Amino acid sequence: MATIGKDIYEAKKLLTEGQVVAIPTETVYGLAGNALNEKVVTTIFEVKNRPAFDPLIVHSNSLEKIQHFVRDFPETAQKLARQFWPGPLTLLLPRKDNIPDLVTSGLENVAVRIPNHPLTLQLLDILDFPLAAPSANPFGYISPTAAAHVQAQLGTQIPYILDGGTCNVGIESTIVGFEEGVIIYRLGGISIEAIEKAVGTRVEVMAHSTSNPAAPGMLKSHYAPRKPVFLQGLESLQQQYKAEDIGILSFQRVYPGIPAKNHVVLSEEGSLAEAARCLFAGLRKLDALPVKVIFAELMPEKELGRAINDRIRRAAAK
Ligand code: TXA
Ligand code: MG
Repeated sequence: MATIGKDIYEAKKLLTEGQVVAIPTETVYGLAGNALNEKVVTTIFEVKNRPAFDPLIVHSNSLEKIQHFVRDFPETAQKLARQFWPGPLTLLLPRKDNIPDLVTSGLENVAVRIPNHPLTLQLLDILDFPLAAPSANPFGYISPTAAAHVQAQLGTQIPYILDGGTCNVGIESTIVGFEEGVIIYRLGGISIEAIEKAVGTRVEVMAHSTSNPAAPGMLKSHYAPRKPVFLQGLESLQQQYKAEDIGILSFQRVYPGIPAKNHVVLSEEGSLAEAARCLFAGLRKLDALPVKVIFAELMPEKELGRAINDRIRRAAAK
């Protein structure tokens, strides 16, 4: 199994040798390696069992370092960077040639972000290369928001997990690209409302698709627990299954007729930020309970509720 610890120098040593290491961020844990080394990037894809058409995000700790692998940084992108970095925002920017093709799956743009986690910022500060890091989960499963989640699923394949505690935001970064206008490629930890306010215009949101993904990595069946997830028809589930066999993911309330222990209530007080923070651990908990099916309630369709609903819908997609 992987060693779990808080030693950034140990992480640096392993990363410099070309190994991959799990790192904490404010969104989810990442499976990190030297973004400028194609062999290391290949290892990341192998450990995650991820198809090569799904590109990676490159993490850095300063705008100055980002200039080394990004050709152009449009004014609107800079505005967003100034407002939200370090933070749960990823920008798609034209890459320089030192970024291996595999990182971007051959695309012209590279996905870049400065994550907001003190340990990982310290680690990035002492490294002389940026870190490519997808979420540290096997491809298609729920993203990890604690070191123990990474250990349970990838622990035999990596030497070290840098333990930064539980992720504060709990859902992945918002991915933003710049074409005619501003396009959101993935809903995430920064709301559409906040992006629109920052850029001063409406933004477009890219839709998901199962067969021919409009954007790589937008496959609907992402984030799936092993158990079937239903968004509607609780009554018919109650006719088909015993109450003990039904798990519930809800925003604030407990459903009468279903045992309290089968519930994950994301935020009793109705905070969408708290719900986001608890979402993936909640799905994991339900997946591990002795229930046969999961009924999931959608959040209000605003602010972080949209990003949470995106994950819940994808967890339910067959
Ligand atoms: O919060 C996060 O973003 C976390 C932490 C670890 O930083 N990372 C993360 O990585 O969620 P991953 O690999 O699980 O998701 C990255 C997404 C993928 O869906 C990928 O398709 C998209 O970013 N992406 C990366 N490069 C892209 C590009 N050049 N164009 C369009 N989409 C891109
Ligand atoms: Mg992921």
